[in-house]
Amino acid sequence: MAYRHIPVMRTEVLNYLGCRPGGVYADGTLGGAGHARAILEQNAPDGLLIGLDQDADAIANARLLLADQADRVRLFHRNFTDLVEVIRELGLKGVDGILLDLGISLHHLQGSGRGFSFLRDEPLDMRMDTRTAQTAADLVNRLKEDELQRIFQEYGEERWSGRIARRIVHARRKQPIRSSGELARLVCAAVPGGRRSRIHPATRVFMALRIAVNDELVRLSELLDHVPEMLNPGGRLCILSFHSLEDRIVKQRLKAMETKYRRDSGPNDAAGRPEGVLRILTRKVVRPGPEEIAANPMARSTKLRAAERV
Ligand SMILES: C[S@@+](CC[C@H](N)C(=O)[O-])C[C@H]1O[C@@H](n2cnc3c(N)ncnc32)[C@H](O)[C@@H]1O
Repeated sequence: MAYRHIPVMRTEVLNYLGCRPGGVYADGTLGGAGHARAILEQNAPDGLLIGLDQDADAIANARLLLADQADRVRLFHRNFTDLVEVIRELGLKGVDGILLDLGISLHHLQGSGRGFSFLRDEPLDMRMDTRTAQTAADLVNRLKEDELQRIFQEYGEERWSGRIARRIVHARRKQPIRSSGELARLVCAAVPGGRRSRIHPATRVFMALRIAVNDELVRLSELLDHVPEMLNPGGRLCILSFHSLEDRIVKQRLKAMETKYRRDSGPNDAAGRPEGVLRILTRKVVRPGPEEIAANPMARSTKLRAAERV
């Protein structure tokens, strides 16, 4: 199946990244390469794009899609937590912009066959990087009831986490849970009035498991640890997140970095600014406009935050 994804908040991303001809930009979440392609248009004729994705399908697709720009593109099948090493391996001091468009792509939901969607009956895998050891089926069949409950509660903010965990543990005593369809049916049966709710009753459980399988919040935190050393002065960071847990981490970490660097910075530069400040560009979170949401309902929960290395 062709790789599918619609890039969200494309114009806003380009503006906040401050893309300019000749600039070096890193896209840590290449996906369908829609944002990457847009960046390459802006940093032409001689700018560089470094693209990372932990999913092999995304990298294979991007190699084809961006083949006409191959001399200005460096692609890596790696986790974005490796970006700091990639920058060094390429012999660069830093980059002018880093984009993270977090989470999964439409391809994961519709074309990967890895059980990301509760609307499909597929093997319960949910790994973005299939080289990693633990699948969603491993977690669902091996974790203790209280650990499953914690995952559903903490990562999915699922009200019925206890009931769902109990139902899973009961069901797996008879036979292991192997498919996304089986899990979705179990969740529906565990949630009171589940079928009548506005969102599908398995939405939160599937999101929580995906976050746990891919260690998403830890990975995001690890990348944020290295942001100041990866950005050139004036370089920008732009992050699109899709749920409140991610956005909270981004918001708090950017604030902490802004404060920390103010406090720890050395003597002020000629312009009277403290050196090494990460300045937040989005005092309030930026959301997609109504037209984009109407055209692409999946964009509705997007939150954009950006900061600049000054
Ligand atoms: C929402 S999609 C990005 C879409 C992309 N901006 C576009 O225009 O098509 C997210 C992508 O990030 C990748 N991803 C998520 N977490 C990652 C991580 N920690 N390291 C590397 N890639 C990651 C996923 O595999 C997925 O392909």
